Amino acid sequence: MRTVEWVDDGPAVKMIDQRRLPHRLEIMVLQRPQDVASAIADMAVRGAPAIGAAAAFGLALAGCVSTAEDSTALWQDLESAAETLRSARPTAANLAWALERVLAAGRGAIEDGPRAMRQALVDAAQQLANEDVEVNRRIGQHGAALIPDGATVIHHCNTGALATVDYGTALGIIRCAHESGKRLHVLVDETRPRLQGARLTAWELEQYGISYEIISDGAAGRFMQRGEIAAAFIGADRVAANGDVANKIGSYMLALAAADNGVAFYCAVPTSSIDLSVPDGEAIPIEERDPAEVLDLQVAGERMAPEGSRARNPAFDITPHRLVTAFVTELGVLRPPFANALASVLERAHAS
Ligand code: MRU
Repeated sequence: MRTVEWVDDGPAVKMIDQRRLPHRLEIMVLQRPQDVASAIADMAVRGAPAIGAAAAFGLALAGCVSTAEDSTALWQDLESAAETLRSARPTAANLAWALERVLAAGRGAIEDGPRAMRQALVDAAQQLANEDVEVNRRIGQHGAALIPDGATVIHHCNTGALATVDYGTALGIIRCAHESGKRLHVLVDETRPRLQGARLTAWELEQYGISYEIISDGAAGRFMQRGEIAAAFIGADRVAANGDVANKIGSYMLALAAADNGVAFYCAVPTSSIDLSVPDGEAIPIEERDPAEVLDLQVAGERMAPEGSRARNPAFDITPHRLVTAFVTELGVLRPPFANALASVLERAHAS
């Protein structure tokens, strides 16, 4: 199944519970929009495009379960559900982007009454999810050319099918290169503290039959220094107008090590994650998560941190645009200077 799906005869939103992977493949069926918001906040569904699609379906669900009998009352319910969904996680641009798209569809049907509005919401969410898969496949095709045959590449976090509706962005590039017959090997950053690399990326690569090894996050520089890595691939939660990238914590340090060793650093990004309303990375809100995610690490059933320890837990960091070699979007590969390239790719995306 896809990472997140609409269930017509529920109505409900169905999703893979990513907190249980790789040990159990459990499916959640959510019948209330507030449960979709909680699933996003608790990271049952995560990854910017998957969060966007989940929020879109969550809003469609809000419309379908609302008891409003006229358009005005339904619109009020939608605005309040959108607010709850929007505040679930702050960093990914796709969340607000997806809600805006679905709200616009509902708004466009107000004159036609609540039944038409509900249909418009569901159709818009379905279309957004279908487009995500198509966009990722195109990112994969554009990016696969950047991977030389026989290369070892490094990947941070999880940007695969699980982080999107299907196929993936940065991991989609790796997948597409593999599907096109290239031989490659992936070093998978484990990605503390939630271990999206060790749990989710490794689980996906295992299924695709792509050769990989998990490394601790701090090991990346060592492999780059030894000349073992041809390129680094990350995704993005949000790209600012100047090309600064908000992505999973650790991306910045990976980019620094890549720059110091002359390793190409690629960021795969659907145009839905580009936010020209923020001038640079400083203006992107960075989510601070519960310190317990850092402190509660257990090895052999025992907590590692001493009782009384405190922790800091920013979920994302900012990689300055000067450390990015290129962006891979569904409309092609963007090279510096990024401000112009990002503005014109977004214009093309809106026109298409
Ligand atoms: O906290 P997460 O797991 O939602 O963070 C995910 C990432 O940082 C991904 O790299 C990003 O969302 C892009 S996913 C295609």
